[in-house]
Amino acid sequence: MKHFKIFAIMLGATTLLSTFNVYGNETINIVPMPVSVIANNGNFSLSNSTQILYDFQGKDADNITGALLSHIKKFYGIEGLRQGFAEKPVKNSIFLSLNPKADIKKEGYKLTVEKNNIILEASAPNGLFYGIQSLIQMMPAIEERQSEIRIQTAVINDYPRFEWRGLHLDVCRHFMPKAFVLKYIDYMSMHKYNTLHFHLTEDQGWRIQIKKYPRLTEVGSMRKETIVGRGNTPEKVYDGIPHGGFYTQEDIKEIVEYAAKRYVTVVPEIEMPGHALAALASYPELGCTGGPYEVSTRWGVFKDVMCAGNENTYKFLQDVIDEVLALFPSEYIHVGGDECPKDSWKVCPLCQQKIKELGLKNEHELQSYLIQRMEKYINGKGRKIIGWDEILEGGLAPNAAVMSWRGEAGGIEAAKQHHYVVMTPGSHCYLDHYQADPASQPQAIGGFTTLEKIYNYEPVPAVLSAEEAKYIMGAQGNVWTEWMPTPSHVEYMVYPRAAALAEVVWSPKEGRDYANFKERMRSQILRYNAYGINYCRIEFQ
Ligand code: ACM
Ligand code: ZN
Repeated sequence: MKHFKIFAIMLGATTLLSTFNVYGNETINIVPMPVSVIANNGNFSLSNSTQILYDFQGKDADNITGALLSHIKKFYGIEGLRQGFAEKPVKNSIFLSLNPKADIKKEGYKLTVEKNNIILEASAPNGLFYGIQSLIQMMPAIEERQSEIRIQTAVINDYPRFEWRGLHLDVCRHFMPKAFVLKYIDYMSMHKYNTLHFHLTEDQGWRIQIKKYPRLTEVGSMRKETIVGRGNTPEKVYDGIPHGGFYTQEDIKEIVEYAAKRYVTVVPEIEMPGHALAALASYPELGCTGGPYEVSTRWGVFKDVMCAGNENTYKFLQDVIDEVLALFPSEYIHVGGDECPKDSWKVCPLCQQKIKELGLKNEHELQSYLIQRMEKYINGKGRKIIGWDEILEGGLAPNAAVMSWRGEAGGIEAAKQHHYVVMTPGSHCYLDHYQADPASQPQAIGGFTTLEKIYNYEPVPAVLSAEEAKYIMGAQGNVWTEWMPTPSHVEYMVYPRAAALAEVVWSPKEGRDYANFKERMRSQILRYNAYGINYCRIEFQ
């Protein structure tokens, strides 16, 4: 807490006597914890006569004010606020000031609540959006009709620790309706996450319409049934119920635009060359044996993968990527690369011929060739690739970023090679793991990752030098849905753990305090209740 007092003194010298450190105070409970909060005595009163003013124009003003207006309407029944352009704040206004030259860090904001008005400043629109999220959390967390909302006077200076604050969503193992994906983005943005890693292709289903390859969704989006339970008995039992679904390109555009309005970038993942049974079932000629293949009805890692010796595979992947690039404006495209057994390549004449032709040492180098070739293609279109840490095997593609999931070793190795890294180690960042005693929980994949364990995760490994540490872009929670058949089950696994991870990626390391986080979360879970998020209540009985 010392850290915050120092900030308070620096920022609030003239009002020092009336300021106090608010953590533990009932009134200002923001998650993720801001860099600095100075609470003052007094309140701003927000009512339907409050004006929302902004000194800039364009759609960002609508995105930012929209977040505030929809919240106060939903929660308190207050609507009809006047809004518009203004150069200066007036009495009883919320004034949004966008100044690219302001001395405010990337994605950061300064929020000043005074009795007469509220001033929110940032150097970019996303900072204003995050300031609004904090302002919302300064309002009473109880959902009820009110004619005025009292907001404690305060000065908040805030900015994120990491630039990649991610949550992932696997919509392949179980398809998630578009409406839920939008809600997922809403809940992310409440927690100042900025990246949705959208896992769209898998053995068990291909979920994105690709116009050049219609069978990907005609055939690949549907599995005929799903294994029941763990399936580890000799007599495997299936449910006999077809499962499927996909997003049209129009759906994808809607999701990407919805996310952009909330300053969330959607990073699509197109898996290659493994986890490809849905693609192979649709186009068997892309596999080493030519099939037949079927969209997988059970979980795991499968030996049938894309043939890396066949030029048609590269043509297919490039065509798919072309359509994906047109839909997703993200800087990064995720190319998967994980869990690709090399069995079929070892006996495939085309794969072996490719290895010989290129003078490669082994099948790992063949995978590396495929990823590097796709990287070159994607770089040529002005984008970058990110892949799971297996892309280190056989040599990392020259500009690739690495998502470290099999622990932190891959991330450490990549950072040492001066490649960018997102930390997602299974030990701390897999939200499909149990969050409490398995006996008390619905079936999960395994693991044991409590709220407190995630809260105490540190994304920058101590073994990295200060220079190498700069390559850690951030961290991400992964949400694999083998054991999450419904949206509400996803919510149960993700919240409140994603709130803890939000604090890991946003808040200063020095202020990490689990007891204090749990105190602040008491207000946030009242909002979860109001929004109907099916969070796990075990830590908040
Ligand atoms: C992964 O969990 N297979 C990246
Ligand atoms: Zn092959």
